[in-house]
Amino acid sequence: MCSRMMATGCLAVQKRNVLLRAQAAVGVRDLSTLTELRNKEQPQPQEDRKRIVSYWGVEPGKITKEDGTIWNWTCFKPSEAYKADLSIDLKKHHTPTNLTDKMAYWTVKSLRWPTDLFFQRRYGCRAMMLETVAAVPGMVAGILLHCRSLRRFEHSGGWIKALVEEAENERMHLMTFMEVSQPRWYDRALVLAVQGLFFNAYFLGYLFSPKFAHRMVGYLEEEAIHSYTEFLKEIDKGTIPNVPAPAIALDYWRLPPGSTLRDVVMVVRADEAHHRDVNHFASDIRSQGRQLKDIAAPLGYH
Ligand SMILES: [Fe+2]
Ligand SMILES: [Fe+2]
Repeated sequence: MCSRMMATGCLAVQKRNVLLRAQAAVGVRDLSTLTELRNKEQPQPQEDRKRIVSYWGVEPGKITKEDGTIWNWTCFKPSEAYKADLSIDLKKHHTPTNLTDKMAYWTVKSLRWPTDLFFQRRYGCRAMMLETVAAVPGMVAGILLHCRSLRRFEHSGGWIKALVEEAENERMHLMTFMEVSQPRWYDRALVLAVQGLFFNAYFLGYLFSPKFAHRMVGYLEEEAIHSYTEFLKEIDKGTIPNVPAPAIALDYWRLPPGSTLRDVVMVVRADEAHHRDVNHFASDIRSQGRQLKDIAAPLGYH
């Protein structure tokens, strides 16, 4: 028994030595050694910075705004900031004509009922939560078109970029509303569940019928415009405080200093109207029996 234990112990030591030699050969550090080193070194921020840039040997340049002040964001650059088109028609509606349109329309209408019930008039929270869903379709469609382009050795007509840009723009809406409304634990749990369901459902829906998938997003965006219009009414009534616009919003939408939450909701609503048009347009192209790549994507809004 004792000799068996010793033999097992020797085997474990041998295994560890082999593992350490292998790690040394490929440059991987044992986790405990790494922790020890970290504790000993305690690098100063400047030294740490040097170590981070050591791979390229080039430190990223300091980005400044037009007025010469430091650009605070790593998630986007000044060239990606834009002015939203506030003159866009907010009332435009695609009348459902064929069966696909009607299915897409009623799918969205049926989703509105539980959403209204859950959020009621909590428009700040509602906006933040809906943006977690709104940022999914563009990315899913972008991935699928990307893979299609690779599989078929063909161009995408700019649609991959346009759809991924839409997803990124929606995510920036979320990053903005996060600044004015903090999610609670049950909000986070809901996002987790909804994302798991919606990502997969939209993925399958897009594989089955891109025409339906884009039409559905077009109607979702029409609903988003309605929600943001209600949001504005609540701000105007004073039930939602018109707080100063978050700093990220000032830079992303190039809003003037002193802008407020109302100004942010206005530009976000204009973005939603743009997404509505892009997705109804994409669905129209598919309805005419054509591929998206045949018609140039509406790039350059953001
Ligand atoms: Fe959005
Ligand atoms: Fe949108």
